[in-house]
Amino acid sequence: MTMAFDPKLFEPSPEPEIPPGIDVEAEIERLRRTRNAVILAHYYQAPEIQDIADFVGDSLDLSRKAAATDAEVIAFCGVRFMAEVAKILSPDKTVVLPDARAGCSLEASCPPDEFARFRRAHPDHLAITYINCSAAVKAESDIIVTSSNAEHIIRQIPADQPILFAPDRHLGAYLARRTGREMLLWPGVCIVHERFSEREIVKLKAKYPDAPVAAHPECPESILTLADHVGSTSSILRFAAETPAKTIIVATEPHIIHQMRKVRPDKTFIGAPGADGNCNCNMCPFMAMNSMEKLYVALRDLKPRIEVPEDVRVRAVQPLERMLEMSPKGAPATDLSMIGEHRETVSADSPVG
Ligand code: 13P
Ligand code: SF4
Repeated sequence: MTMAFDPKLFEPSPEPEIPPGIDVEAEIERLRRTRNAVILAHYYQAPEIQDIADFVGDSLDLSRKAAATDAEVIAFCGVRFMAEVAKILSPDKTVVLPDARAGCSLEASCPPDEFARFRRAHPDHLAITYINCSAAVKAESDIIVTSSNAEHIIRQIPADQPILFAPDRHLGAYLARRTGREMLLWPGVCIVHERFSEREIVKLKAKYPDAPVAAHPECPESILTLADHVGSTSSILRFAAETPAKTIIVATEPHIIHQMRKVRPDKTFIGAPGADGNCNCNMCPFMAMNSMEKLYVALRDLKPRIEVPEDVRVRAVQPLERMLEMSPKGAPATDLSMIGEHRETVSADSPVG
């Protein structure tokens, strides 16, 4: 099934006009200090944004950082639902997103009123909802999960408790196969992970027979069947770093390869292509809306600001806190300090909590 999305969803905000003579990178550094700001970035951000961030991580790690920080401003370089989670968990902080239009096809696949109707039609079902959704959908949910903790959390739910899972049908189907549980699935999709081509991955496997395939569980089953490792972005990064293989085929958004090269410069990482063999369609158009210039302006003007209505926030924080309580304990999934030459960008005097 291919979903139709409003083309407006893919329109970024215009690039800001930067006064001549401004050194954007130096200004970001200065503003980070004067604003007491922390810059959080997802692995799908452009390399220069990952490199200037205080912390780079997956959705779960970034939520934990946002909840624990004592910075006054969180500059969230990711997409809107991630910045909203930061605001829900840290309501007293100012949260800015460099491009307020940076959405997500999974969020757009699940309008809150339709989801609320779906819930009401299945009152006996527990609503386990992927973090890739709006604050309003979170407010209608029982437990939020990310791809790092979803299986661990679902295994804690009594076997006789019916579950509905939204909005990613591929992640939901993967979790159903892993846990052996039937779940009612909402038909949402990630347009990025849906575009990987089975035929092209088979061709790559033939060309590089020793290269394992690492895939994100937002991919369809036909791709996951070809994968040697399935996991969240941090789990894929860890696998890429730790596997003895020297070449790895990566079936997730290719900007993560920037971190892989930093951690293991001795290895070769091949981004899995889309159907035409070399398109850029596996890049997330929403993550790409952020830029260094927009980050600078966001820190300078403290805009665009993410706000969540208080009545929505108080309902959305509960399933998020449940997620944090039910997540595996221990080191953050992205603690790569023991691997290779990973450079943790959080310094001793950083405002990151
Ligand atoms: P992770 O939580 O694995 O980083 O995934 C977020 C995401 O949007 C994947 O498309
Ligand atoms: Fe959303 Fe897919 Fe982009 Fe992740 S990669 S932010 S799920 S559209």
